[in-house]
Amino acid sequence: MTQAAHAAPDLAPPPTLEVRGGRKNFGAVHALRGVDLVARAGEVTALVGDNGAGKSTMIKCVAGIYPFDAGEVLFEGEATHISSPADANALGVEVVYQDLALCDNLDIVHNMFLGRELKKGFRLDESAMETRAAEVLASLSVRTVRSIRQHVASLSGGQRQTVAIARAVLWNSKLVILDEPTAALGVAQTEQVLQLVRRLADAGLAVVLVSHNMNDVFEVADSINVLYLGQTAAQVRTKDTSRTEVIELITSGSAGMAPGAVAPKISPDAPERATSATATTSDATTTNGSTSA
Ligand SMILES: Nc1ncnc2c1ncn2[C@@H]1O[C@H](COP(=O)(O)OP(=O)(O)OP(=O)(O)O)[C@@H](O)[C@H]1O
Ligand SMILES: [Mg+2]
Repeated sequence: MTQAAHAAPDLAPPPTLEVRGGRKNFGAVHALRGVDLVARAGEVTALVGDNGAGKSTMIKCVAGIYPFDAGEVLFEGEATHISSPADANALGVEVVYQDLALCDNLDIVHNMFLGRELKKGFRLDESAMETRAAEVLASLSVRTVRSIRQHVASLSGGQRQTVAIARAVLWNSKLVILDEPTAALGVAQTEQVLQLVRRLADAGLAVVLVSHNMNDVFEVADSINVLYLGQTAAQVRTKDTSRTEVIELITSGSAGMAPGAVAPKISPDAPERATSATATTSDATTTNGSTSA
């Protein structure tokens, strides 16, 4: 039971993931200058922003590849430090990277269990892995692969994405982060992957979807988090916003949002963000950037 649940048992459960004021520097490069994110179970949270806004850095920090230099991370309401991929996996965080990291010369089952193979004595437990892989694919209503013993090299882009997503949900995950899962896909395959993304959330997982594609975002996301020059410009409910407003947030860091969701313009060269103006108590929250420049 979390502190938040003790304090207010009648409120909604805490978000699966909450990042408050996350910062990350690479030497002199301030890649993240104050990012806030709320990802709830049962919801797809889109993470959007222009090239270089900090999306990949943010998910790598959550995945423990580069720990945040500063800021707070709460997982299911509990403050936590994710300082390695093993920490992230132990919490139930799985990331599907854009390059997928699948092995072409292995079949679907072996790819799904790559690095975490099931063993029986000294041998691989092929039948247990096959059964489990088939169960997970069936639970995700994946019907487009002919055989789970098919080599991944023979799969289409959408099918490869499906295998990578299924691999992520195989490990009792609670939070699945997908980096541009539809970037290289055609229309029909994009639709299949988006349906799969939706099913992950409907199955109770928290899903973070990194995307440049507004069609995808508005089709599948419950909530949209916009990064602008390493800062969170706003996180808004999809039903309360519009494409025009989200695009404005992406390009300028501010927009004439719905009442209660106004994000003042963030100065591109603002060195610091005004922490007093930060509030991340709900996912209809905006984060103000410093305008001191
Ligand atoms: N390992 C690194 N070393 C130095 N700078 C980095 C490193 N990784 C990212 N950056 C810088 O951090 C900033 C954010 O990069 P990031 O890759 O997170 O952006 P992004 O939002 O994912 O962009 P895109 O949409 O192009 O994928 C950029 O200015 C980038 O050059
Ligand atoms: Mg990126």
